[in-house]
Amino acid sequence: MVAERRPDRSPRRGASATFDIVGHAFLFAMGAWFGNRKVRMGGIASVAVALEARGLGVGTGLLNDLHVRSHARGDALTMLYPFRQGYYARLGYGPTTSRRRLAFDPASVPASWRALAIDGVGRLRAEDREAVTRVYERAARRTSGWIERSANAWERRFMRERVEYLIVRTSAGGPTGYVAFTIAQEEPHAETKVLVEELVSMDDRARRALLGALGGLRDQIASIELEVDATDALELALVDPDARRHGTEIVEHDLGTIVGGPMVRIDGSAEGIVRAIEARGYLTDGRLDLVVVPELDAKETLALSIRVERGRARARASRGAALRVPRRALASVLYGGLLPSAAVRLGLAECDDPRALARADALLAIPPLAPVEPF
Ligand SMILES: CC(C)(COP(=O)(O)OP(=O)(O)OC[C@H]1O[C@@H](n2cnc3c(N)ncnc32)[C@H](O)[C@@H]1OP(=O)(O)O)[C@@H](O)C(=O)NCCC(=O)NCCS
Repeated sequence: MVAERRPDRSPRRGASATFDIVGHAFLFAMGAWFGNRKVRMGGIASVAVALEARGLGVGTGLLNDLHVRSHARGDALTMLYPFRQGYYARLGYGPTTSRRRLAFDPASVPASWRALAIDGVGRLRAEDREAVTRVYERAARRTSGWIERSANAWERRFMRERVEYLIVRTSAGGPTGYVAFTIAQEEPHAETKVLVEELVSMDDRARRALLGALGGLRDQIASIELEVDATDALELALVDPDARRHGTEIVEHDLGTIVGGPMVRIDGSAEGIVRAIEARGYLTDGRLDLVVVPELDAKETLALSIRVERGRARARASRGAALRVPRRALASVLYGGLLPSAAVRLGLAECDDPRALARADALLAIPPLAPVEPF
């Protein structure tokens, strides 16, 4: 979508006015996995306003318009990668869990994992491609935030020359995991890194085998960079992951970087809030009452009773509850991996009944956001 402005000093030519384009923003229709269920989501990207039109509300206007369109077509949320969180926080976007970008020496990968790779891991062949897409789909269901990919999207991914794929097979034959990566080297003979784009597996053994295969590159590669979610324990299996780096006085062992995640927003209308609650999946069944407010100190409230059966939620009006959550924090809880108890500890939500809060944690929890490809 674009924002247009009548150039104020230009003469009108003929009957029709001419317009300058002063801004643009994209809204993609996406499906993404949350709590074992695919959710319709609007992906917002490439928001930009011409230098001469900044600060006039053009960007805000474009985004508001995209939010209306996204809600009208049935999306449960919008997601974006912010250039600055503050700009989008004003518009109702809440943060999601950060990922950890580990940087580790290939020699730190356990020898037993390398042994798994020797028979099981090989290069991707053209006939394996379809099976690779199925591995992704199956793995995506268990994640928070992985995006459904069309056949075209896969085709574009496989066409990229610099991206290498390794796959792991079981003795029965079918792939159970793959890793896509690039090799980065600034000039011949300089330090070489493996930058993992995605490492996807149906089980833990396949994951160990793929990491083992990357570990097998230890003579050529100085370091492997791989993003894992906030709770992944991978580095606990690595011995001296920073062996080829030095520390500082404060940080002796630097294992990588914490990377901010995307932001998520749900529509503020009662219908939008109910849709956001009902659209995602839930990992356990149960009941919960909560009160959604525009801001913590707001008088206007929406009291809801949520009942989850077989992983699906129904939200109905209720009379009140101990847990009080602003809409922005609710977006982070429903779609950003923020636990209600963490929201309360941070002052983002309120609850004076510890048992209700424990129930909310159990019912609303999803895994932290998995490393998601930026759009
Ligand atoms: C970011 C951008 C889209 C904002 O568009 P805009 O039309 O100037 O913004 P608006 O007029 O709607 O909003 C202005 C408000 O945003 C705030 N704002 C502007 N830039 C900001 C920034 N970098 N960080 C935080 N807030 C910012 C202003 O303080 C102002 O707040 P106020 O209304 O309380 O005074 C525009 O500056 C731009 O195109 N920047 C370069 C491209 C870019 O970075 N795009 C983001 C890629 S996702």
